[in-house]
Amino acid sequence: KMKVIRCKNYDECSKAGAEIFSKAIENNPNIILGLATGSSPIGIYKNLVKDYQDGKISFKDVKTYNLDEYVGISRENDQSYYYFMHDNLFNHVDIKEQNVHIPSARGTESEIKAQCNAYNEALKKASIDIQLLGIGGNGHIGFNEPGTSFEQETFVVTLAERTREDNKRFFNSIDEVPTHAITMGIKNIMNAKKVVLVATGANKQEAVKKLLSNEITTSFPASALHMHKDVVVIIDEEAGKML
Ligand code: F6R
Repeated sequence: KMKVIRCKNYDECSKAGAEIFSKAIENNPNIILGLATGSSPIGIYKNLVKDYQDGKISFKDVKTYNLDEYVGISRENDQSYYYFMHDNLFNHVDIKEQNVHIPSARGTESEIKAQCNAYNEALKKASIDIQLLGIGGNGHIGFNEPGTSFEQETFVVTLAERTREDNKRFFNSIDEVPTHAITMGIKNIMNAKKVVLVATGANKQEAVKKLLSNEITTSFPASALHMHKDVVVIIDEEAGKML
């Protein structure tokens, strides 16, 4: 059964999420983390940077694997997830660059496929201790859009229109939002020993309601998490309004 932590607002959710990660890092300095981008984890990363600065935790031996990356956006572009992760977390802590893993989606179609497969192989060997997730308005986790098989491994995905709409706030216009991404599959996510999903704000009300309704269906990818034995869902008052 999913554990649900209900917090007042985004900041409280961020603190609660960061505490789980901070404690886990303290207990296991060699921990392997699965990380996410987007608005949801930013506050968690801020708190983790603070814990690092306060000397509570070190990322010296921490390894990380990110969920996804856009296709067709260079690392240097401030919309890339590579840039996002460095800007929000990695540049501010003592993590070693060789311990940072973010799918790369560069080059020709066949080069991207090869990078995708290599990432999948690396994930199989790595065994993630805690995976951080946000949830899409349509229930996606990573970029596993509605309809994706629960057996799906890392792949190149065509982004759903809803996802491109949701994410256009970061771009000048919808035309600039990439159409494809590399993402861990649902199967990779389910392999993590523990999953922490954070959802806040009015835009997530539907998704949170469906997630906690206990129905398991590929039309709502996050519902796969009901089959995982250790999931913590952190929501704020806004996101929980339809419960
Ligand atoms: C991000 C990711 C996505 C986001 C989701 C929610 O790496 O894989 O699944 O977690 O789209 O995004 P935000 O947090 O921006 O609402």
